[in-house]
Amino acid sequence: MNATPAVNIGRLLQSVAEFAAIGATPAGGVNRPALSAKDRAARRLLAERAWARGFSVFQDEAANLFIRREGRDAALAPLLIGSHLDSQPTGGRFDGALGTLSAFEVLEALADADLKTERAIEVVAFTNEEGSRFSPGCMGSMAFAGAGAVADWSDAQATDGRLLADELAETLRAMPEAEVRPAGHAIAAFVELHIEQGPILEREEIPIGIVTAVQGTKWLEITFSGEAAHAGTTPLEFRRDPMAAAAAAIARIQDDVMPCDPQARLTVGRITAEPGSINVIPGRVTFTIDIRHPDAEALAAIEQRVTLECRAAGARRNCETSIQLRVDMPPGRFAPRVTAAIEDTCRALGIARRPMVSGAFHDALFVSRVAPSAMIFVPCRNGISHNEAEFVSDEHILIGARTLLGVAQRLAAE
Ligand code: GLV
Ligand code: MN
Ligand code: MN
Repeated sequence: MNATPAVNIGRLLQSVAEFAAIGATPAGGVNRPALSAKDRAARRLLAERAWARGFSVFQDEAANLFIRREGRDAALAPLLIGSHLDSQPTGGRFDGALGTLSAFEVLEALADADLKTERAIEVVAFTNEEGSRFSPGCMGSMAFAGAGAVADWSDAQATDGRLLADELAETLRAMPEAEVRPAGHAIAAFVELHIEQGPILEREEIPIGIVTAVQGTKWLEITFSGEAAHAGTTPLEFRRDPMAAAAAAIARIQDDVMPCDPQARLTVGRITAEPGSINVIPGRVTFTIDIRHPDAEALAAIEQRVTLECRAAGARRNCETSIQLRVDMPPGRFAPRVTAAIEDTCRALGIARRPMVSGAFHDALFVSRVAPSAMIFVPCRNGISHNEAEFVSDEHILIGARTLLGVAQRLAAE
């Protein structure tokens, strides 16, 4: 036959809807925590689809899931395309899933057209990209790229108390049909399609972002330890109140540190107080700070300033301050060869595009350390992501998948 391969948009939209039903939230979003039963159900659905199309399925020791369509020359390293299937607790239906399912659609489109590529193409669903249930994020791609090993995180504990080691083992066991291989097999290149998660493409009415770089991220965990005491009886001078320290530190970060640099992003997304009782001055308060910046030196300088502010706030309240660096992802640049393939594909298809830097981290950041990589962004409504209201139009899903298909054909032919 050998027809020109074409994206089947009806099939892709149905896939997106079916996966969004796994962990669906009442508000139209998705809660599919990494390595949870819901995550396992999504992985199984993808694997079942793959087997039904005659593709092969394997996993690696980090539970990254791979689906392979053979090429003409089995000796050539495969082209890798894909993203992740885990979500934020109140996540949207597109973050991760769209890239994974568009990649699977590429395999199906090639199979429909009976078109053999020179090298094999593999679709990947990386494990725990979000880092929300288990920290750090991008665990699967870090393991794949040798930037970390599963053993490094074996005592990582989920927000619900489960151990990473147990959930990982259960996830691997849940798919006994898929052989488990060592992490990090050779690949020719990696392309990840993803929603932009910001407002630029929509505002400029451009359907494709060619991602040339990813800004850096640091995650800090700050703990102020004071003394639990009675809320009604303890005068100010007797208090060692870690909540007062945290409130002051957070205010400094938001009011003084972030405004100094328009490119800096600082977020306190999680805070816990112990014992967490309305009429007890907490004994301990722990909170996270997510810091982003495109420049490695600026990122380090912000981390230093935040550290000083936190230590000063702790000292003012007579509390002990502990600061742990939980995640350190330096900024990364993507490969010109892969961004050029995206540019050439868009030009050939008559699709408007612009280069951009990703504000979010992605699995491609780590894979780019071991193979030429780049990303394709599609717009999302109002730039909203990590939110159940996340939305991508059918038209942009189609344009994104067509671009990915074109890029995959180019790179699998090289
Ligand atoms: C990815 O989910 C990020 O937080 O950038
Ligand atoms: Mn994502
Ligand atoms: Mn995300």
